[in-house]
Amino acid sequence: MWRPKERIKYQPQPGTSPTREEAASSMLFSPVDAGPLQLAQRTWVPAMVPWRASDDGFVTQDILDWYERYARGKPGALVVEATGIRDIPSGPLLRIGDDRFIPGLQELTDTVRQASAGETKVLIQLIDFLRINRRAPAEKYFERFLQVTDRHRAFFYSQLSDDEIRLKLRELTDDALVEVLTDREYEAYAFGYRERVTDTHLQHIRELPDVLPGLFAAAAERAKKAGFDGVELHYAHAYTMASFLSALNTRDDGFGGEPEDRVRLPLNVYNEVRDRVGDGFAVGCRFLTRECIDGGNQPDDAAFFGVEFARAGMDFLSLSRGGKFEDAKQPKVGAAAYPYTGRSGYECMPQYISDERGPFGRNVPATAKVRNAVRAAGYETPVVLAGGIHGFEQAESLLQSGQADIIASARQSIADPDWFLKMRLGHGEDIRLCIYSNYCEALDTRHKQVTCELWDREDKNAPGVKLSNDGKRRLLPPEWKAPLSNKLNGN
Ligand SMILES: Cc1cc2nc3c(=O)[nH]c(=O)nc-3n(C[C@H](O)[C@H](O)[C@H](O)COP(=O)(O)O)c2cc1C
Ligand code: SF4
Repeated sequence: MWRPKERIKYQPQPGTSPTREEAASSMLFSPVDAGPLQLAQRTWVPAMVPWRASDDGFVTQDILDWYERYARGKPGALVVEATGIRDIPSGPLLRIGDDRFIPGLQELTDTVRQASAGETKVLIQLIDFLRINRRAPAEKYFERFLQVTDRHRAFFYSQLSDDEIRLKLRELTDDALVEVLTDREYEAYAFGYRERVTDTHLQHIRELPDVLPGLFAAAAERAKKAGFDGVELHYAHAYTMASFLSALNTRDDGFGGEPEDRVRLPLNVYNEVRDRVGDGFAVGCRFLTRECIDGGNQPDDAAFFGVEFARAGMDFLSLSRGGKFEDAKQPKVGAAAYPYTGRSGYECMPQYISDERGPFGRNVPATAKVRNAVRAAGYETPVVLAGGIHGFEQAESLLQSGQADIIASARQSIADPDWFLKMRLGHGEDIRLCIYSNYCEALDTRHKQVTCELWDREDKNAPGVKLSNDGKRRLLPPEWKAPLSNKLNGN
């Protein structure tokens, strides 16, 4: 993973944990409404892919166990991982592109409700993504994938057959290849082919604005049938909808260029989803305060989008940053580029080796800017903030100072899914603090079952402990043995 050159090391800074009484009177543990969604507290587990779905996208027992474990910590909301809206093979990524996925998802919502005694609202993140190929070996790329054009012929100044040109290209140095190949060809050769929303010469890309609203709406309807309390439209990071919002989107069909045009499809998607699911079902989105790539969106763009989404009637706005393909590291041959490997990836999930700004709360000022713009436009839409938040004092002061309405914690919740409950019960000393090592993210990058280095070897050979596919790690954190007197509301 990319790291800032300053290489300053940080330790978690959780501050003081609340007593049970302080927690009970805090803002963090006070209710908030997100449209029809009445959250008992302002705590939120954002979407995280744990790589536990079946190879054909169904809910598995491991998925149920994973979310059950979070639900027992009783966060206000739990957003189930990015889930594909199309009925196409996508490896072990959860899917919702057909009615056959509904029963498994229903089991998932039942599990979360039961484990949280109904306290945790459960949403699902809906994602669309474009095609990305693994990086092919050079000989295969030149033999099978490259289309020989006049540009290549001209480079060799001779009458060579296409096959001879392919052979010659294979022998060139990298510097020469940069010269002879177009930027996209070089990218396909060195990183693997990747589609963009601007590839409007391809029919299926040109037609995305016609197709996506219906796909998202059908997926949202299935989510409603499966018992979710709402959906989060994934407009963040490296995926299709974020690419429509991106300043790099130069489509000239009314869906690219100026911010007003870039937001058109995301609004159309939202409107069609809303028409399909009605007002009683929460619909919000996750988008970026900043793309953190050259020429990418800035907080001003995000503020504009936030106001548009609020005006359209979204029930919440969840803000992330970075996580793009444009600056991803070159993958090894046989692997695909991954959007969390470059500087923008670092900004999405900042690690403990950081710069002078550190890994905690890097997204706060930009999120506050979006929230201020939404409030100034007269909308009360709650704003969800994420990024390095792992302590009560920090979370509470962000809420008290009006920089956010809901606090999302991703990695801290992997490190300790009981941490919300521990705070509420006045047992802050029992919290297993995330050290922001990004070991979990490295597993995610390799599409391996996500676990935390702080607990995945603990008592792993104890009876009943389920292990990862590599047999080395436990899949779930050990139980927190809460004192019996510490039950909340009789649950
Ligand atoms: C293993 C892992 C998987 C993730 N998967 C998703 C995802 O499916 N959708 C999403 O919007 N963000 C995803 N994220 C990003 C988190 O939701 C969150 O924005 C990010 O980790 C920063 O928050 P944190 O500092 O509290 O971890 C993932 C993060 C991790 C560590
Ligand atoms: S592996 Fe554990 S400690 Fe490291 S970042 Fe992930 S959750 Fe935090």
